[in-house]
Amino acid sequence: MRVSFQDAKHLISLVGLFAAAVGVFVILRAAVVPAGFGKYGHYRAGAIDDNRARAVKFAGQGECVYCHDAQLQVRDSGRHKTISCEACHGPQAKHVASDGKEKPAKPDVIPLCLNCHEKDAAKPAFLPQVVKADHYTGTTCSDCHQPHNPKM
Ligand code: HEC
Ligand code: HEC
Ligand code: HEC
Ligand code: HEC
Repeated sequence: MRVSFQDAKHLISLVGLFAAAVGVFVILRAAVVPAGFGKYGHYRAGAIDDNRARAVKFAGQGECVYCHDAQLQVRDSGRHKTISCEACHGPQAKHVASDGKEKPAKPDVIPLCLNCHEKDAAKPAFLPQVVKADHYTGTTCSDCHQPHNPKM
């Protein structure tokens, strides 16, 4: 049988196209993958230093208690004892660093409370839940509930 290479030019152009695609991929990859990628794993090694350089925003509850023991005592006497100060008051590293001179913003009470307490079937059963439309009477939550120990 006579072997004909007459049709091989189709294959050759296909191989050429494939090689060109690989070439473009290699060039693009070199251009967009940041330096240090893969050094420690599937991420950019420099990201560790970038994150380390960011300012710390949360002080941690251990700091609050030095100056706010009264609020701590009230909170620990009720069912909010598991909720950390900054979960409600937001990050307060600046407040602590300024010895209390830089005042925290007042919590936006209704959305804060409802974020945890608005009825939602996806929330766990241990979390007491209310339907705002049935429960809330037009005043704000903290008119009736002391936020640090909300039991009525
Ligand atoms: C070094 C002492 C100190 C530390 C630590 C501290 N605070 Fe304060 N805090 C103060 C002072 C002083 C005030 C102002 C009190 C005033 O003016 O009546 C204040 C006021 C507040 C207020 C009330 C703001 C207002 O509008 O009345 C909140 C809320 C608060 N601090 C939360 C926190 C939280 C949360 C922490 C922990 C992350 C914390 N503080 C740590 C000293 C401190
Ligand atoms: C469940 C949310 C929540 C938690 C947890 C919480 N707070 Fe508060 N706190 C509030 C709200 C809301 C107010 C504002 C009340 C208002 O404006 O009527 C407040 C007010 C304050 C005030 C102003 C003075 C006062 O007593 O009203 C201070 C100081 C304070 N909180 C400190 C703390 C500290 C310290 C902790 C942690 C031990 C803490 N809070 C935990 C919600 C919370
Ligand atoms: C970060 C989530 C969170 C926020 C914000 C929060 N709570 Fe709670 N609250 C809880 C959890 C969790 C419990 C129940 C804890 C347990 O029983 O383990 C609870 C319990 C309660 C209870 C039942 C108290 C009792 O003794 O039976 C009331 C009432 C309540 N919260 C009202 C409020 C109000 C009002 C606010 C806003 C000032 C608020 N909560 C903000 C998580 C939250
Ligand atoms: C006019 C007063 C009043 C206001 C305002 C109010 N509550 Fe209450 N809340 C009560 C009383 C009274 C109870 C206890 C009786 C009950 O279980 O209905 C209660 C109970 C709760 C409970 C516990 C429910 C349970 O199943 O144990 C949660 C959570 C709660 N309130 C959240 C809120 C939130 C969030 C707001 C603001 C959107 C709010 N409340 C505003 C009076 C009030």
